[in-house]
Amino acid sequence: MKNNFLENYKLEGEKLNISTYPAPILKQIAKPVIEFNDELHAIVKNMLFTMYHAPGIGLAAPQVGVSLRFFVLDIWYDREKVTLADGSTEFRLSEFSPMVFCNPVFKNKSGEVLQEEGCLSVPGIYEDVKRFEFVTVEYDDMFGVHHEIEADELLSVCLQHENDHLDGIVFIERLSFLKKNLLEKKFLKQQKKK
Ligand code: NI
Repeated sequence: MKNNFLENYKLEGEKLNISTYPAPILKQIAKPVIEFNDELHAIVKNMLFTMYHAPGIGLAAPQVGVSLRFFVLDIWYDREKVTLADGSTEFRLSEFSPMVFCNPVFKNKSGEVLQEEGCLSVPGIYEDVKRFEFVTVEYDDMFGVHHEIEADELLSVCLQHENDHLDGIVFIERLSFLKKNLLEKKFLKQQKKK
């Protein structure tokens, strides 16, 4: 029987370690998902848990050290930053709509948008990136069932950003040579301080 935890999703799983730029795994071309088995489902579950807690709106398998062509995303959930009695802050998360995209293929791409992006693998860096405004994507869900989705606005941008991770591309590499080098230097400097 299918265990589709995406319906009535509950925030459970393990936090995975997210690789940061320029880790070699982020540069690799990921391999297609062939087996839609329990092992895949376990990674998906943990990736969602990791993404929500970061918090982020998308996370691709290579970012957690798995060089396979799939990613998770949720651009709809609510994040409320609350201050606790001891002065520390935490995010209260609710209204989840998790999605999983395996072996995505872009069929149509049109229009142009400029939108600020960030990435859990390049924390602290945000920059406007030029992307297609509308995309049509064919993909398999985590059971290997084929689907097609049309997307615009934030979902379109997120699909393109996450798909880039499967091709070994991090968003700052979509910028001009000059800007990319500047942000790369800034990021590596920040990392050193930590
Ligand atoms: Ni990213």
